[in-house]
Amino acid sequence: MQKGNDENNGLRGAVALAHFFLRQYLRPGDRAVDATCGNGHDTLLLAGLVGPTGKVWGFDIQPEALGATGARLAAAGCRGWVELIGAGHERLADYVQEPVRTVVFNLGYLPGGDKGVITRPPSTLAALDRSLQLLTPGGIVVIVIYPGHPGGAEEAAAVEGWGARLPVEKYSVWCSRQLNRAATAPYLLVIEKLA
Ligand SMILES: C[S@@+](CC[C@H](N)C(=O)[O-])C[C@H]1O[C@@H](n2cnc3c(N)ncnc32)[C@H](O)[C@@H]1O
Repeated sequence: MQKGNDENNGLRGAVALAHFFLRQYLRPGDRAVDATCGNGHDTLLLAGLVGPTGKVWGFDIQPEALGATGARLAAAGCRGWVELIGAGHERLADYVQEPVRTVVFNLGYLPGGDKGVITRPPSTLAALDRSLQLLTPGGIVVIVIYPGHPGGAEEAAAVEGWGARLPVEKYSVWCSRQLNRAATAPYLLVIEKLA
């Protein structure tokens, strides 16, 4: 079983920082959601961290993304405890009812795929709302945000506005940017539901 390929590669970008947080929070037996499977890198990390006594749900609207994710999981021996769902994450409530420790969003378009198929504010915000309801106290939602592609800046603003409105007595909402990179570089939001 593999735990992802960036374990000793430093915090070179928002995805690496997201994985750093996931490694701190997830333990064997936990439940987690990948709201945007894409090529399956995040799903694989989640599956490796929760192990066969845990459970991962993975969402994507593109069959090629789910195919790539399924193949990656199978190659690593992690397919058995991951449910892959060909539906938008805005339908999270239809598929996941159990409390979860973590929900991961990696917004934007599928790398190597159709750049016209992107995550969009209405469905992203609906899924984020539902994620907070599912989250166990002490759990986290991590969101990798890409402001650089067409539509990305609007989505970034919508997600930041959503996060800024969360009540401070219930949630810690963190934003991490790399100050020595372009303003359009990917960055990370982490929302912790306070215990
Ligand atoms: C940046 S990619 C995710 C990368 C992925 N986490 C990885 O490790 O390779 C964004 C993905 O979100 C998917 N997507 C777009 N809208 C969606 C929606 N409403 N629900 C679920 N997935 C969606 C796209 O099809 C795309 O595969």
